[in-house]
Amino acid sequence: ERMFAERKLLAGKRMLVTAGGTIERIDPVRYLTNDSSGKMGYAIAEAAGRMGADVTLVTAKTGLAAPEGVRVIPVISARDMLEAVMSRLDESDIVIKSAAVADYRPAVQEARKIKKKEDTMTITLVKNEDILQTVGENRTHQFVVGFAAETAPTEQMIMDKLMRKNCDLLVVNDVSLDGAGFGLDTNIVNVYDRNGLLEAMPILSKLEVAEKLLKLVAARVSAAGS
Ligand code: CTP
Ligand code: CA
Repeated sequence: ERMFAERKLLAGKRMLVTAGGTIERIDPVRYLTNDSSGKMGYAIAEAAGRMGADVTLVTAKTGLAAPEGVRVIPVISARDMLEAVMSRLDESDIVIKSAAVADYRPAVQEARKIKKKEDTMTITLVKNEDILQTVGENRTHQFVVGFAAETAPTEQMIMDKLMRKNCDLLVVNDVSLDGAGFGLDTNIVNVYDRNGLLEAMPILSKLEVAEKLLKLVAARVSAAGS
C-alpha cells in the first residue's frame, strides 16, 4: 500500500528541520520579526515523520501544533536557532532550513522599556550569523536543503545563493505570485540543485510540496549511500 512504501523512503534517517520566523528583541515589550507562519517547515516535519525519518523540529514561535512523533525544540531568536542547529549537526543526516531567519537583530537589547522621547528614533541593527551558510561550511556527511523566499528571482541570484550556502538543494518560492508564500496553505516552488533547475512544481498544498521535496531528497540520500 502507498503509505507503507512512503514510510520506508526516509527510514533510519535523522532529519533536522527549522521553521518559523525568528524574534529579535528590542526591549522587554517590543521585537522585530517577519511574516513567516511556519507552515512549510511543519509540513516538512510532518511528511518526513510519515516517511519514517527521525525528525527534530527546531522552531521559532508559530501558532502551529507540533506534528505527531516529531521532537520539537522551541527557540526565539536567530542566535538561539544557530545554537540549536549547530549542536545537533553531527547527529543529523539531513538538514532542511525552512525557517525565516531575521537577517538583523538590534545591536542592543534594552533591559528596560524604551521611553518615548524625540520625534524620530533610530535602532541600530547588526547582522545575524547565517545559519544555513554555517551549516554549509561545517557539513560533513549531511544532505542540506535551503529555502529562499524571493520576489522576482533570477537564475543567477538563485545559483549564487545555492553555491554561497553550499547546499545540495535550494527551494525557491516567488512570494509575489498568487498562491505562494507566507501564511497560505499552498505554495509554488522551484527546486534547484548545483546544475540548475531540477523541478518546477505547480501550485500545491504545503504538505504536497513537502512530500515531493522529500522524495527528491530521499532519492539523492539513498543514491549517495549515506
Ligand atoms: N538563512 C539562515 N540564516 C540567516 C539568514 C538566512 O539560515 N541569518 C537561511 C534561511 O533559513 C533560508 C536561506 O538561508 O534557508 C535563504 O534565506 P534568504 O533570506 O533567502 O537569503 P539571505 O542569504 O538572507 O539573503 P537575502 O535575504 O538578502 O535574499
Ligand atoms: Ca534573508
